[in-house]
Amino acid sequence: MKRWANLIVLIGASALSAQCTTPHVPSLDVPSCTKGTGRVQYDKSVPNGESKFPLTQVDLCYTSSDIKITFTAFEEVNFFYNASQTTNDPLYEYEVMEAFIYHGTSDPSSYLEFEVSPNNVTWQAFIYNPSKVRAAGAPFDNGQLSTPIVDGLVTSTMLDKTAGIWISNASIPLGLFNVDNGAAKGTKWRMNFFRTIVSPDTFPDQGLGAWNPTNMSNFHMTPFFGNVFFV
Ligand SMILES: *[C@@H]1O[C@H](CO)[C@@H](O)[C@H](O)[C@H]1NC(C)=O
Ligand SMILES: *[C@@H]1O[C@H](CO)[C@@H](O)[C@H](O)[C@H]1NC(C)=O
Ligand SMILES: *[C@@H]1O[C@H](CO)[C@@H](O)[C@H](O)[C@H]1NC(C)=O
Ligand SMILES: *[C@@H]1O[C@H](CO)[C@@H](O)[C@H](O)[C@H]1NC(C)=O
Repeated sequence: MKRWANLIVLIGASALSAQCTTPHVPSLDVPSCTKGTGRVQYDKSVPNGESKFPLTQVDLCYTSSDIKITFTAFEEVNFFYNASQTTNDPLYEYEVMEAFIYHGTSDPSSYLEFEVSPNNVTWQAFIYNPSKVRAAGAPFDNGQLSTPIVDGLVTSTMLDKTAGIWISNASIPLGLFNVDNGAAKGTKWRMNFFRTIVSPDTFPDQGLGAWNPTNMSNFHMTPFFGNVFFV
């Protein structure tokens, strides 16, 4: 009995210390596309959500084979991209919307990074980030998916320059995450969503925004990924 009591005290203490270092993360329920979408909106900057950021919306749902994401950038001013860039070029130096996606509940060290730019060009790779915060000197690598359309990562993009709106739809195969056809319901995920803004005049100094802002100007901090439930 005494031994159990000690064990419970220990568990209590470690849960408490985890609470002090683990950032609060938001949660989102995502339905099947036949039922609707799960929506997040954010308007806070990285780091720490300190400043106002242009309103950004992400809608998600799942089909039997794919995650469907609609990224909506409101209050978009520059629609700024480098027209010479193609698939997997450093789009992130300009304006992009991004999703970081992991199938599981822990803070991941490997996850998909997916980006789309206002001219419908994409960047996609599995990241290896064993420090989980892209610590200086720690390994950090990526394995790029170089034929996104063949791989099933398909986008479509619409710009409304008058209204200041940029919308990109993305389809991301569940198979990339070892979720078999028809098996998405009930799966649990960690994700974060980001947007970069920059104008020709301020390039390369970007504004950064996130669903759950990280505490440094660094998106690759997985303890900040939100909880996402496919219901
Ligand atoms: C635009 O992208 C092309 C192709 O990657 C690159 O050669 C060029 O330097 C970029 N332009 C600027 C201004 O960064
Ligand atoms: C965007 O890219 C996709 C391929 O990912 C392509 O099918 C589509 O026609 C492109 N154009 C627009 C305007 O969305
Ligand atoms: C995105 O998908 C939605 C739902 O299928 C559709 O109504 C909308 O026109 C699409 N937008 C673009 C930019 O492809
Ligand atoms: C930022 O968050 C990480 C991950 O939770 C944490 O390890 C680190 O101490 C935090 N840094 C600051 C400056 O708060």
